[in-house]
This record gives sequence, structure tokens and C-alpha cells, in this order.
Amino acid sequence: PTRDSWCPWALLAASPRGAGARRGGTPLSSPQQGELNSFLWTIRRDPPAYLFGTIHVPYTRVWDFIPDNSKAAFHSSSSVYFELDLTDPYTISGLASCQMLPHGENLQDVLPRELYRRLKRHLDYIKLMLPHWMTPDQRGKGLYADYLFNAIAGNWERKRPVWVMLMVNSLTETDIRSRGVPVLDLYLAQEAERMKKKTGAVERVEEQCHPLNGLNFSQVLFALNQTLLQHESLRAGSLQAPYTTEDLIKHYNCGDLNAVIFNHDTSQVPNFINTTLPPHEQVTAQEIDSYFRQELIYKRNERMGRRVMSLLRENRDKSFFFAFGAGMARVLLFYSITMIGSEMFGML
Ligand SMILES: *[C@@H]1O[C@H](CO)[C@@H](O)[C@H](O)[C@H]1NC(C)=O
Ligand SMILES: *[C@@H]1O[C@H](CO)[C@@H](O)[C@H](O)[C@H]1NC(C)=O
Ligand SMILES: *[C@@H]1O[C@H](CO)[C@@H](O)[C@H](O)[C@H]1NC(C)=O
Repeated sequence: PTRDSWCPWALLAASPRGAGARRGGTPLSSPQQGELNSFLWTIRRDPPAYLFGTIHVPYTRVWDFIPDNSKAAFHSSSSVYFELDLTDPYTISGLASCQMLPHGENLQDVLPRELYRRLKRHLDYIKLMLPHWMTPDQRGKGLYADYLFNAIAGNWERKRPVWVMLMVNSLTETDIRSRGVPVLDLYLAQEAERMKKKTGAVERVEEQCHPLNGLNFSQVLFALNQTLLQHESLRAGSLQAPYTTEDLIKHYNCGDLNAVIFNHDTSQVPNFINTTLPPHEQVTAQEIDSYFRQELIYKRNERMGRRVMSLLRENRDKSFFFAFGAGMARVLLFYSITMIGSEMFGML
């Protein structure tokens, strides 16, 4: 598959160079092409450094669409850096402990009774559906529904509500069906290790984790409640999935940067703002959204930018490939990173 055969607008702008004019190649004439991107940026220096936007989806869904220039940049770079060091067991255990409620508390002690009951009922439903959602391919790989459920949702009663909210969002049929294949960033990390490149990370676990834990209790309750309401409506069939991983994959494969970065609908983040909420709840939704943008996008971008710059300054003779999440989606998908841990340790 190529972008030309996959992206709807490619038909309107038949390229004289065919597949060679995919992302990173000659711009096509369609107006939409101005919005397209290879997710690869070059930092001009000698040797060069590259910045590449990854995505937390099974690499097999996007690999064939990644332009050759991006793959060549990866191959030619001697150092490969990620947001977090996904191949380090401490990263994974750090993320896991950061998600836990403090002082041995239990969700049942923390959540209003009715909300807890709805959460439990939803997870019971997921557990029931999971065997039906799994693909023959997954079963062929020896993946069992109970095992998968425990890998994703095991110990949920001990987790902070904000992480349970993200977990609920990752427990949809499409997401379940894509479990078991390394996500693109993990795949790149594994490839980098296999090729004996130097690997590293520009962030520490706490820096990714603490901002999420920084929402206050009423904000978290609101977010969890809204997430559950969405999933309950999905269950009842009164709501179409407002965002799907499929959409995200399609936008990524088409190089649609704006959609990947800014469109809530493709980010797996529950879109609290654009729903029919009473005014005071609109305010809470807006506050949560601004908080996430500030903490998880702007502040992180600045911090990561500083670290990239100092790495480049301190290693002037080395080529670099920085692989960071391509957009908005990255920041609230820590949950996938935890999943990476289970995949690495052979659970999936
Ligand atoms: C949570 O934060 C919001 C916005 O800063 C504030 O209005 C609200 O009172 C806070 N709630 C609690 C329980 O601290
Ligand atoms: C959940 O949200 C609905 C609709 O916004 C509201 O009526 C209900 O009181 C909320 N429940 C909790 C526990 O916050
Ligand atoms: C949500 O956004 C869409 C497109 O931006 C808009 O047409 C729609 O009216 C919005 N819905 C609400 C409830 O704000």
C-alpha cells in the first residue's frame, strides 16, 4: 500500500512520479497537500540530526506508509533517542507505580459509590466481550482473553482514577484487536538495539506521569464520569465511537499533521469540550483541556527541546534520530506505554 492508493485525495492529485512522490517527495498539486507531512524534520548540521514523529499504534499498520527517507534517516543515525527509554525495565515499573493510589488506598474508598458501581459494571462488560473481540490471529499467537484483560486492566481497583479513565478509553473493540504487535515507537527502539545503535531518552518517567496526577479530584471525577458516560452510550448503541484508532492511523499514514496533532477526535482523548454539557461543566471541561495542553504539550515541548539541544551541542560529531510522539495523541497515551511494558516482558 502507498499513500497514493490509501488517501482519498491522492486520487484527485495523481502524481507524475507515482509512489516516489509520496510524503517527503515532490509536493502534489492538491490543495490538501500543503497540510501533509512526512513527520520527518532535519536539523541541519554535519552529521545531520533528525526529528521523527511516531505514533502508539501497532507498527505493522503504518510501517509500509512511512517514506523511505524517514527509514534511511533512522538507519544512518548512530544515536536514537525516544521520549522514554522503553527498553528499560525501570521505565515500566516507574510508570506502573506512578499510576497507583497512595497509601494502599482502593478505588472503592475514593470514588463516589455510584461512579464506582458504574465503573465496575463497565469493566465486567468488557471482560465478557473480550473473547468475542479478539481476532483469530491473536488467538493463534496464544493470547488469551483473561490474560489480555489482566494485562490491561489487572489491579484496576488500586489505580488512580485518572489512569482508570485512560484505561477505559483503551478498552474498545478496535484497540483490543490491535494488541499483541509492538507499537511503532517500541519497534523502533527494538530495531535500534538490534542494530547496536546508542539509544537514550530525553524524559524521565515522573515528568510524563506527574502532570496527569496533578488534576484535582473534582476534575478527575468529572473526566471519569464523562468517559464512562461515553462508553455507556457506546454500549447502548446510542453513540458512534467519536474517535477511533483507525482514524488516527489513517491520518498518520496520509501525513495529515493537523489531524494527528490537534484533532481531539483522533487522539483517543475523550473530547469533553465538544459535547452537550451544562455551562458549569463546560467550564470544567475547558479547564482540563487547558491544563493538559499546558502541562503535556507546551511545557514538555520546551523541556524536551532543551534536552535535544544540549545533546546536540555535547555530541557534535554524532548523528541523531529523535523519535517522539507525533501529536496530541502521544501525551495521553501513556497507557500504551504501560502496555509496552507488558509486551516486553512477554505478557502479550
Ligand atoms: C479544582 O481546580 C479548579 C480549577 O483550578 C477549581 O475551580 C476547583 O475548585 C478545584 N477543586 C478542588 C476540589 O480542589
Ligand atoms: C456525571 O455526569 C452527569 C451528566 O453531566 C451528571 O448528571 C452526573 O451527576 C455526574 N455524576 C457524577 C458522579 O459526577
Ligand atoms: C462539535 O463540533 C462540531 C464541529 O466542530 C460542531 O459542528 C458541533 O456543533 C459541536 N457540538 C457541540 C455540542 O458543541
